[in-house]
Amino acid sequence: MEAKQHGMGIIMTLLLLATLFFSGARAAAHDQATPVLHPVILVPGYSCSQFDARLIGEYEPPTPACGVPKQGREWFRLWENYTELQENPTLLPCYQDQLRLVYDHAAGDYCNVPGVETRVVSFGTTRSFVFDDPVQKNVCMARLVEALEGVGYKEGSNLFGAPYDFRYAPAAPNVAARAFAGFRSRLTRLIERASEMNGKKPVIIVTHSFGGDYAMEFLNRSPLPWRRSYVKHFVMLCGVIGGTPLMMEVVASTMGSSPAPTTLLGSVLSLGNRSFESMYNFLPSPVVYGDTPLVITRAKNYSAENMPEFLTAVGFSGEEIARYRTRALPLTLNFRAPLVPMTCINGIGVPTTYGLVYWDGNFTEKPQVVNGDGDGGVTLENVLAMKRLVGGDPAQPYFKSVLVPNTTHSGMISDDSALRVVVNEILKANQATS
Ligand SMILES: *[C@@H]1O[C@H](CO)[C@@H](O)[C@H](O)[C@H]1NC(C)=O
Ligand SMILES: *[C@@H]1O[C@H](CO)[C@@H](O)[C@H](O)[C@H]1NC(C)=O
Ligand SMILES: *[C@@H]1O[C@H](CO)[C@@H](O)[C@H](O)[C@H]1NC(C)=O
Ligand SMILES: *[C@@H]1O[C@H](CO)[C@@H](O)[C@H](O)[C@H]1NC(C)=O
Ligand SMILES: *[C@@H]1O[C@H](CO)[C@@H](O)[C@H](O)[C@H]1NC(C)=O
Repeated sequence: MEAKQHGMGIIMTLLLLATLFFSGARAAAHDQATPVLHPVILVPGYSCSQFDARLIGEYEPPTPACGVPKQGREWFRLWENYTELQENPTLLPCYQDQLRLVYDHAAGDYCNVPGVETRVVSFGTTRSFVFDDPVQKNVCMARLVEALEGVGYKEGSNLFGAPYDFRYAPAAPNVAARAFAGFRSRLTRLIERASEMNGKKPVIIVTHSFGGDYAMEFLNRSPLPWRRSYVKHFVMLCGVIGGTPLMMEVVASTMGSSPAPTTLLGSVLSLGNRSFESMYNFLPSPVVYGDTPLVITRAKNYSAENMPEFLTAVGFSGEEIARYRTRALPLTLNFRAPLVPMTCINGIGVPTTYGLVYWDGNFTEKPQVVNGDGDGGVTLENVLAMKRLVGGDPAQPYFKSVLVPNTTHSGMISDDSALRVVVNEILKANQATS
């Protein structure tokens, strides 16, 4: 009975939202002649940006099928060139090798493999959010772009995209992070240009998943007066700041002899042979998960506070763990309000990994999973931590958390009902007078 009433409540809410959405859509269509909309900048999730590569002389190919003699010196699509890999599977080891990152000790930073240059495709636009790979179809923001176009947004006029090389990550302020610094300056210029083109209206930043980490750190590092004059609102969908226990399973599933990972994140990490800097940013933060045991074995438990020991147990080197400590951990410990109006939208009601039991301590086995609430990737604890640490900061001007029932991490940007909620919140952010 209670469940049924709850269900009815959800239906009523959805109907109400649908009504709001359609009236919002009409209003926007009606006003299209006058530029009422604030420009929107979309920052997509993990694996949703494309990048090209080109090889130069010093590149040492892993097999004779690749390298300068075979692949040439011209730019080609490295991520993601699904069609090419279907047609020419012998290129897979080449792409895997070229996708890797290495750590440059002299520069104190991650970089491409020597002899490989990369560049993000179509920065400023949303064109690169569309993939020919069926696995990526509903994971990226292509359907959100359509939904925004449905309410009067127009690519290149008031709708823009900020793709980034997701192998790299935002890092603590005191370490070198060239890729992230490059993203920050490109995004700054994009936001200034978008605002200029739209009668100096400040922009609305809309992120999905890992895009939220990029945008949050971008905002925190931008001067406060700049933020206040250029950013009207930050709409964060399924933000993963604070990490997720699911990542511990993903990391274990990519250990040497493990069976092939079943998650998209796992396959991407395996593809890069666990060399991507960004993987450490997804590990659960002590600020959110404290000392709750997240991984349980007969002999020892691991909480977010024991992450270095867990990483050792699943095969990371001391050097890699030191980089987790100096680059990623300080960010996940230092949750901060962005000090611009913010709306967080999260899915709930989907079983979400909260704990993992590897009773015999064998991390290459499939664990017994203990589920909590969330969107299947991001837990409700993460949502509550955002409310507490960002919403609860007296300096934060406006903060709202919207929970969308029965919505998965990717469903947030692909289910019609969730998209209505998202677009409606973006329209509301447009109207807010603060
Ligand atoms: C994929 O790679 C091939 C070979 O390098 C290239 O010809 C093709 O244009 C690439 N696809 C895209 C979408 O760039
Ligand atoms: C993957 O990384 C491990 C550890 O860094 C290394 O020993 C191994 O050779 C790498 N494999 C490939 C195919 O690059
Ligand atoms: C691990 O955590 C579980 C659940 O909280 C607890 O019952 C168990 O005693 C802990 N085991 C060890 C070895 O600390
Ligand atoms: C761990 O589990 C894997 C997969 O079930 C198995 O192949 C391997 O032998 C196990 N290792 C140990 C040390 O028991
Ligand atoms: C949740 O969503 C699934 C798939 O869209 C649907 O089959 C199911 O009935 C929904 N459950 C509730 C409680 O709304």
